[in-house]
Amino acid sequence: MIEIKDLSVSYENEVALRNFSLTIAKNTTCAIIGQSGCGKTTLLYALAGLIQPSSGTIRIDGQTLHGVRKKTSLILQDYGLLPWKRVWDNMAFPLKARGLKAEEIELKVSALLNSLSLSEYRNKFPAELSGGQKQRVAIGRAIALEPDLLLMDEASSALDALTRETIQNLILNIYKAQNLTLVLVTHNIEEAVFLGQRIVVMKQGEIKHILDNPYFGLDHGRDSLEFYKICLEVRRWLNEEA
Ligand SMILES: Nc1ncnc2c1ncn2[C@@H]1O[C@H](COP(=O)(O)OP(=O)(O)O)[C@@H](O)[C@H]1O
Ligand SMILES: [Mg+2]
Repeated sequence: MIEIKDLSVSYENEVALRNFSLTIAKNTTCAIIGQSGCGKTTLLYALAGLIQPSSGTIRIDGQTLHGVRKKTSLILQDYGLLPWKRVWDNMAFPLKARGLKAEEIELKVSALLNSLSLSEYRNKFPAELSGGQKQRVAIGRAIALEPDLLLMDEASSALDALTRETIQNLILNIYKAQNLTLVLVTHNIEEAVFLGQRIVVMKQGEIKHILDNPYFGLDHGRDSLEFYKICLEVRRWLNEEA
């Protein structure tokens, strides 16, 4: 369980998060949606332990967060791949850093490449891949360490519409297959509704509204009218003044 209590984060002359409180149950998904600049990335970095809040606390499984945590993986908005390393090395890198044996790394990375349909790209550099392929490498690298908390920043915003849906389906399948809590931030309404069991609408560093999403996780969610009804509801909250 994640408990965020009265969290505030300020940069030099700007408050990015203001008294933000939110509880996210273990092994659920939570989508955070809001306009650009409302503090989504800041919230994700705070959850990853990468920035120190000005005030307030974050507790994960009862432990107050101080700095990075082994079981948390973060996928950055621009994928965060190392451009000078090949696909295989990008994925193996966190496993090497954890000190796994070479044979173990080979087995694990091969299995991941296979499950992400990336085997034929193992020797390519990130610059030789499409956006969707890069995102799959980033996802593979993030789940290689078997996190219990996966944080994603704008998972699909740089992708074309069809690739975006493929990546969203992949993320949903990973969530269903692994025991993890997924927190993703996005400014894309359909992504929030497709991937968020709970949807938190943010505005200017604060929570504007929380919706529970009964249509989360349905295999053909996007084909149902109810799905778009929730999209409309989220849209109303996003557009509402004040
Ligand atoms: N490193 C930084 N230094 C100063 N201001 C920042 C920094 N990062 C973000 N901000 C500001 O904080 C606010 C929230 O930013 P951010 O969390 O990136 O929003 P979002 O991800 O929702 O677009 C924005 O107004 C942004 O300009
Ligand atoms: Mg952002």
